[in-house]
Amino acid sequence: MNAKTVPTEGALTSAEVRAKHKQYLFPATANYYQEPVVLAEGKGLRVRDLDGREYLDFFGGILTVSVGHGNERVNGAIKAQVDRLVHVSTLYPTVPVVTLAEKLASLAPGQLEKCYFTASGTEADETAVMMAQVHTGRTEIVALRHGYSGRSMLAQSLTGQASWRAVPSQVAAVKHAMAPYCYRCPLGLTYPSCGVRCARDIEELIRTTTQGRIAGFLAEPIQGVGGVITPPQEYFQIAVEIVRKHGGLFLCDEVQTGLCRTGTWWGCEQYDVEPDILTVAKGIANGLPLSATLCTAAIADSLKSLTISTFGGNPVSAAAANATLAVMEEQDLKENAARQGQRLREGLERIQRKHPRTIGEVRGKGLMQGVELVKDETASDRTPQPQATNALLEESRKRGLLIGKGGLYGNVLRIAPPLVVTAAEVDEALGALDESFTAIEAGGS
Ligand SMILES: Cc1ncc(COP(=O)(O)O)c(C=O)c1O
Repeated sequence: MNAKTVPTEGALTSAEVRAKHKQYLFPATANYYQEPVVLAEGKGLRVRDLDGREYLDFFGGILTVSVGHGNERVNGAIKAQVDRLVHVSTLYPTVPVVTLAEKLASLAPGQLEKCYFTASGTEADETAVMMAQVHTGRTEIVALRHGYSGRSMLAQSLTGQASWRAVPSQVAAVKHAMAPYCYRCPLGLTYPSCGVRCARDIEELIRTTTQGRIAGFLAEPIQGVGGVITPPQEYFQIAVEIVRKHGGLFLCDEVQTGLCRTGTWWGCEQYDVEPDILTVAKGIANGLPLSATLCTAAIADSLKSLTISTFGGNPVSAAAANATLAVMEEQDLKENAARQGQRLREGLERIQRKHPRTIGEVRGKGLMQGVELVKDETASDRTPQPQATNALLEESRKRGLLIGKGGLYGNVLRIAPPLVVTAAEVDEALGALDESFTAIEAGGS
């Protein structure tokens, strides 16, 4: 046997980590930045790389580190649970799991009172679709173009972006409706004179491409990976009414928008609609793998087959989630997300006014904001600028700020700090972004 010596984390440099990543991980495991940042530690909104450089984290592990890195309350709960009991599977009830389920039922919108725990957003969305199909006895699902649901075969089929689809869509029962992407209206119309035609077209979609009765409509209140596409105010009321008229359930994917992110507990509250099934993941356990599918008792009762999720509702993740939700409530992070979100938004709009050519649109709600980069908005040339977006990420990294990007064309900055962000941190990030726009417009610095 060839025994290999694997050095401990502390013995590696950033360059060595990057080299090993390149050698041993799938090349498709894409990292941000030409020279990926090897993060080693974090506290609050500050993270540090292996070389000791500090950054302000305005993407929070893709909107997942909801109450800040190294949150003492959450970490304390995790450590205590690790010492007590790490894993039992869904075959045994545990205190952390039932506590969490009860809490989620109390926070959930409308009549949602039962939940099923899994370990990722993908699995939660899979469960939501399965429950809609089981409950209605039908299979067809309407999803949205530009949506993102994850990386399983079904989730890739639900996803409405070619770039995230490794193999052809395998689940013919998914039909994609037009996205409520006003900045690039698929119908070439302008809101509000459009009468929200994209939502009304769902009726035509159901009548022409399905059997006329569907299992459900799965949508994110704001399409995150799609580039923070933020529907007009009436969109969901119109869409969901049509869906229900055709026998479908509303499956609300709150994987990104849930748990205070948009300034309300749930993204659907912003649109005054109540889902029949809701999925939540990312920010629920401050970074530990956990997701949940919530539904009404009647829908939950429909599932009669055996079902198991080995890691679903792991007690450590559930303990982390209980502590995370307690921090959200005690520190009123819903209110903080609304307040700091507004400050962030106003600052981004100021930056847009300073850089009117490059910035086509600023959109989003609360602490989920997107900035779309185009060729020349002043000349109505909305050609997407993915290279400028990458350059902007590099420039902001140089200035100690980490942000995300997304959109079908890779030209949307995604700005979504942990919910505990302060006004000073928002201002610091805005300062770095402003300088970064100046730098890319001057051809880099
Ligand atoms: C809205 C939405 N749904 C589902 C998923 C899939 O979640 P996961 O990557 O945890 O499987 C994501 C991930 O980004 C997401 O943004």
